[in-house]
Amino acid sequence: MLAVVNTAGGATPVELREVPEPRPAPNEALVEVRAFSLNRGELRLFQTRPEGWRPGQDISGAVVKPAADGSGPRAGARVVALTDNAGWAQRAAVPGHRMAVLRDNVRFEDAAALPVAGLTALRALRHGAPLLGKRVLITGAAGGVGHLATQIAARSGAHVTAVVSRPERGRHLIGVDEIVEGIDKVHGLFALILESAGGSSLAAAIAHIEPKGTIVVFGNSSGEPTPFSFRDFAEHPNARIQGFSYFTSEAEERFAPDLALLVLLIGDGSLKPHLVERSWRELAQIGPQLRDRQISGKAVFRID
Ligand SMILES: NC(=O)c1ccc[n+]([C@@H]2O[C@H](COP(=O)([O-])OP(=O)(O)OC[C@H]3O[C@@H](n4cnc5c(N)ncnc54)[C@H](OP(=O)(O)O)[C@@H]3O)[C@@H](O)[C@H]2O)c1
Repeated sequence: MLAVVNTAGGATPVELREVPEPRPAPNEALVEVRAFSLNRGELRLFQTRPEGWRPGQDISGAVVKPAADGSGPRAGARVVALTDNAGWAQRAAVPGHRMAVLRDNVRFEDAAALPVAGLTALRALRHGAPLLGKRVLITGAAGGVGHLATQIAARSGAHVTAVVSRPERGRHLIGVDEIVEGIDKVHGLFALILESAGGSSLAAAIAHIEPKGTIVVFGNSSGEPTPFSFRDFAEHPNARIQGFSYFTSEAEERFAPDLALLVLLIGDGSLKPHLVERSWRELAQIGPQLRDRQISGKAVFRID
């Protein structure tokens, strides 16, 4: 079968190659992959992982053979799944407990946007629950995680302020009360801040957190450090900076229910991933565009 393989120093960071068929473990289903999505974090892995490594966490497709241990959906089910790697292939082995069944009205392409970005958005926002009536600030709002987080926060009743770099970056945002170009233009205090740019953005976030509020730090897209001290919290007593990893923030058995919740939100029309959709043969061209902040929302690839 064909799969995306790391070239480590090749002409393109990854390429399509013939590889052996997957051999699922007893707790894994065999899935025919129909679409997948690319995450900013995976761009870094292309640089650091060895030649021959197989990327791919976010996939959607159809179950060919269910897990032998009985976990997960039946044969033929349309699913979204989170794999550790090697998901960007014609077929993939997927743990039965990391899949959710797609409603008939949920496209493979939309579902493929969900695992890493959707789980990150959903789980990071839980640090501020209940969100009804609260002010929530989201940096990197135009990106894969950010645009899903703005929609889920709005759906949960929050008053959402989205930070983008330029006006056109915010055009696809839905449900936000306010779009601000740069965190330095933000006014007021927020009960919850989702911060992923780092550097001066995180420093500014501290200046906008309510007393006892929470800043969830889930990324450092700028690569810049943030010096801060106790005094920065003088006007924001007992505010909290919360480190975050979508993968370990909740128990392993919560993957399937959380993926199912995200699928439900797409199915009922309250979550609409904004996609740049391409053939998987264009992956190497789209990667640099994601790196250079030219992709709004999620880059999704069809296996054609
Ligand atoms: N901790 C976790 O579990 C976890 C999970 C998923 C992702 N992450 C991290 O969270 C961050 C966002 O992920 P994503 O998939 O949403 O990425 P993405 O789609 O590339 O979006 C990143 C957004 O950040 C904004 N940004 C601000 N300053 C930036 C800078 N200096 N360089 C690049 N982007 C900058 C961009 O805004 P504009 O478009 O307005 O320019 C862009 O829309 C990444 O750092 C990623 O590694 C962490």
